[in-house]
Amino acid sequence: MIIGVRKEDPPGERRVAATPDTVTQLQKLGYEVVVESDAGAGSGFTDDRYEAAGAAIGDADAADVVLCVGPPERLDALRPGATLIGLLSPRFKPELVEELAKRPITALSLDAVPRISRAQSMDVLSSMANIAGYRAVIEAAHEFGRFFTGQVTAAGKVPPAKVLVAGAGVAGLAAIGAASSLGAIVRATDPRPEVADQVRSLGGDYLAVAEPEADDAPDTGYAKEMSDDYNVRAAALYADQCRDVDIIVTTALIPGRPAPTLITAEMVATMRPGSVIVDMAAANGGNVEGTVPGERVVTPNGVVILGYTDLAGRLPAQASQLYGTNLVNLIRLMTPERNGVLVLDFDDVVQRSMTVVREGELAWPPPPVAVSAAPAAVQPAPEVVADTPSRTANPVVRRVGVAVAAAAMFGLIALSPAALQVHLTVFALAIVIGYYVIGNVHHALHTPLMSVTNAISGIIVVGALVQISSGNAAITVLSLAAILLASINVFGGFAVTRRMLAMFIRS
Ligand SMILES: NC(=O)c1ccc[n+]([C@@H]2O[C@H](COP(=O)([O-])OP(=O)(O)OC[C@H]3O[C@@H](n4cnc5c(N)ncnc54)[C@H](O)[C@@H]3O)[C@@H](O)[C@H]2O)c1
Repeated sequence: MIIGVRKEDPPGERRVAATPDTVTQLQKLGYEVVVESDAGAGSGFTDDRYEAAGAAIGDADAADVVLCVGPPERLDALRPGATLIGLLSPRFKPELVEELAKRPITALSLDAVPRISRAQSMDVLSSMANIAGYRAVIEAAHEFGRFFTGQVTAAGKVPPAKVLVAGAGVAGLAAIGAASSLGAIVRATDPRPEVADQVRSLGGDYLAVAEPEADDAPDTGYAKEMSDDYNVRAAALYADQCRDVDIIVTTALIPGRPAPTLITAEMVATMRPGSVIVDMAAANGGNVEGTVPGERVVTPNGVVILGYTDLAGRLPAQASQLYGTNLVNLIRLMTPERNGVLVLDFDDVVQRSMTVVREGELAWPPPPVAVSAAPAAVQPAPEVVADTPSRTANPVVRRVGVAVAAAAMFGLIALSPAALQVHLTVFALAIVIGYYVIGNVHHALHTPLMSVTNAISGIIVVGALVQISSGNAAITVLSLAAILLASINVFGGFAVTRRMLAMFIRS
């Protein structure tokens, strides 16, 4: 079969559905590839580079499988039997769905890939949200007239910028990572408490609003609409934060609903002049009062509100590369024989979910897919507080708990036989030292820390060495086995730790 790569119709769209790299991968699956002239120009991929990768330059619409980013403006150019794959937004464009269903074609929408683990490699929305979250921070940094990082210079002290990220999904987490790597103080809030650890691992502080209510709705991997009680508490948090922070990035989204308003015009009015808000939900109605989709607005008190809806497209080469790779992963799934023949398997939940039209027959909407997202860990957070690891529980309760535990330990030591007292004292001190040592290791380094603690098995080696020359053959054999196994554990632990730490080192 021939795969065609379209030049996008809207003049502002700089992304392209395949790069020279992904063209090579499509050919390895058995396809011929035709790329429309100048299709990759907006992303910096010239026709020559596509030709060097083995593609022909020609009419992409006449191909068997047509790849695009946004839907084509002229559907008539598609030939009967063709398969169109792109971001078709069937949830928001019923008239396009109707038009597609009038033609003897198959249409697959990449924005309908379900959020399940198996489909992650095809999840274009996540790839694009990741890029957009990063770019949102770059746009904010461009508008903000100061450093993100704090500095002490000969000319004076510069405080770090304070950044609030509302919504810690894919885009929010990318924004947290980008802002904290630029040196800002980053805070983030999200109704899903299970994201708190992810926020912290990227260098942010998680701001809890309220305990989530019990919810019987099926889990789709996305957030659900919040209660009035939650919204009142959240509004208090946002009002406080607006008076304090310099930059706000909002990403709150509930699929299929207009974006919730998180930041009101009154809150914006309390922000310092020069502050910047990037409202990533602008296309869905916005999380901020005063956002204009696609525009830069400056409020009377000098706050810049960016409502750009093309943030991923502002990094076109990167966006095209990830988009093209997601498409290759989908086409690989749909080419089981690796023979250049696309097969639509309606029993596969991923392919079924994204099918809008199958051979001229309407297949939208698909049956709902229940997914098990992250475990619904419930952590009590009745107050609006910034809960860093050392502040997660109520401090008074924690102190009383520690005092009771310490008193119990002292009582146990005092009442135990003299021979045991030394061991219990060492045990109690080990708990205290361990608590402070591990508590001060960054969350992201806990796994390497656990693997390096395998070295504790070294004590087995010492014990076995003491016993090995006892003269008893059974004890000698057991000692040898113990030395061998404990050594594997110790050296294996160091090897694993080394590999993990290497992941944190910039190449
Ligand atoms: N502007 C652009 O160019 C661009 C590009 C890509 C994505 N986006 C938009 O960015 C937003 C985020 O996308 P995503 O892929 O990260 O979505 P996502 O589903 O991964 O994340 C959305 C997050 O919002 C949270 N949320 C829901 N209701 C909330 C509330 N009331 N308060 C705070 N948080 C709340 C959810 O729990 C979730 O973590 C979407 O609106 C998406 O359309 C914009």
